[in-house]
Amino acid sequence: MFSHTIIEPFRVRTVEPIRQTTRDERAAALRAADYNVFRLDASDVLIDLLTDSGTGAMSANQWAAMMQSDESYAGARSFHRFRDAVHGITHLAHVLPTHQGRAAERILFTTMVRPGDVVPNNTHFDTTRANIEDRGGIALDLPCSEGRDPQAEHPFKGNIDLEALDRALTEHAGRVPLVMLTVTNNSGGGQPVSMANIRGAHDICRRHGVPLFLDACRFAENAWFIKMREPGYAERSPRDIAEEMFSYVDGCTMSAKKDGLANIGGFLALNDDEVAARCRNNLILTEGFPTYGGLAGYDLEAIAVGLHEVLEEDYLRYRIRSVEYLAEKLQAADVPMVRPAGGHALYLDARQLLPHIAPLEYPAWTLSCAIYLEGGIRASEIGTVMFGLQPDGTETPARMDLVRLAFPRRVYTQSHVDYVAEVLAFVRQRASALRGCRIVEQPAALRHFTARLAPLADGLYAS
Ligand code: F0G
Repeated sequence: MFSHTIIEPFRVRTVEPIRQTTRDERAAALRAADYNVFRLDASDVLIDLLTDSGTGAMSANQWAAMMQSDESYAGARSFHRFRDAVHGITHLAHVLPTHQGRAAERILFTTMVRPGDVVPNNTHFDTTRANIEDRGGIALDLPCSEGRDPQAEHPFKGNIDLEALDRALTEHAGRVPLVMLTVTNNSGGGQPVSMANIRGAHDICRRHGVPLFLDACRFAENAWFIKMREPGYAERSPRDIAEEMFSYVDGCTMSAKKDGLANIGGFLALNDDEVAARCRNNLILTEGFPTYGGLAGYDLEAIAVGLHEVLEEDYLRYRIRSVEYLAEKLQAADVPMVRPAGGHALYLDARQLLPHIAPLEYPAWTLSCAIYLEGGIRASEIGTVMFGLQPDGTETPARMDLVRLAFPRRVYTQSHVDYVAEVLAFVRQRASALRGCRIVEQPAALRHFTARLAPLADGLYAS
């Protein structure tokens, strides 16, 4: 068979214009946004890679299903379709819809976590960590050693360190209400977790009598990486692999804004009847009746269809290939990044690109501003502005200074990706002239969303 370009496995039948701006207009927009891309108007952004969450395009089948939704308050047909879709992949007994992933996390942790408890994970996502800490619990990150090195080429850098997990469960015996595994590992670079690692975590948890949960936001992308990279899985379908992943766990939290291919929604699913009953009561308190959980019937329909489409091979092949394609172009242009490419995003290594900018002058933040200025592309800093401010008000450099380019699902085409590569190659050429930034005003917590910054020089570049 001849080998060919992996094309988008869809044709476009609804379009949304994106607006070209001049460099001067972007310089003004950046100034008005106080050099914080979160403060930009989306209409001033040409290519928005801020997040892959809730930003995907829905299919004609999803829209068609939405038109046929049942908006009954209780026991709606749409709930049954949603529950069957979730159950068909996870085979978990209880399915509770929520308005998004963090609502599922809050309900699970307020039900299961007591002050002083410890929850291990390969790497907690911010909202997962925050919801555990809000309960007075301790969120313990146990990434494998390869996952700590941005340049290490390893097929499953998202794995949890199984020996460290075993030790933690012994050391904190009686204080670990559950263990979590995040697939793929978002905060760790969008890296996958192997089936062997999920099975290993299952065995250890079983031995210690502790339930294992998946943070399943990107379960389909993880299944594809297992198919591509793990011996014995090449001939298995993504759906079959996903079902095996879920067979090793006692429950999951899910943001359907990622691999649910929906713009909003999520769920909590689990086997334990008693815990499920308590979670359901908690759900009624803040989200709504257990058959809609804060969502419209049509959202439940969109997710039910999305969960089916996200496991299609053509979709996953195109999805993972688009990110890898950008990685290849950036590698050719000598733009440093976390290796290998993640499933939903690429992470640029700003410390390596901008060694002349000290971590407390925010190299990754500066890079995110430069990428917007030169090309109208929005991406998020995952570095010292996001993580550097300590609860006592002091500042320390984050472990890494990265810029995440997250890919919305089914939204951008190959020429959009070519354009992104051209802009980044251009920024790379001018990198040594970039100067850092300083914070002018910031809130006490989660400062990256709203802080006001200013460049150290007259503009982003040395004059
Ligand atoms: N878990 C992971 C691994 C996530 O990446 C996210 C969201 C959540 C949980 C929470 O889900 O947003 O539906 O409440 N990640 C988004 C991102 C925001 O940009 O990576 P949510």
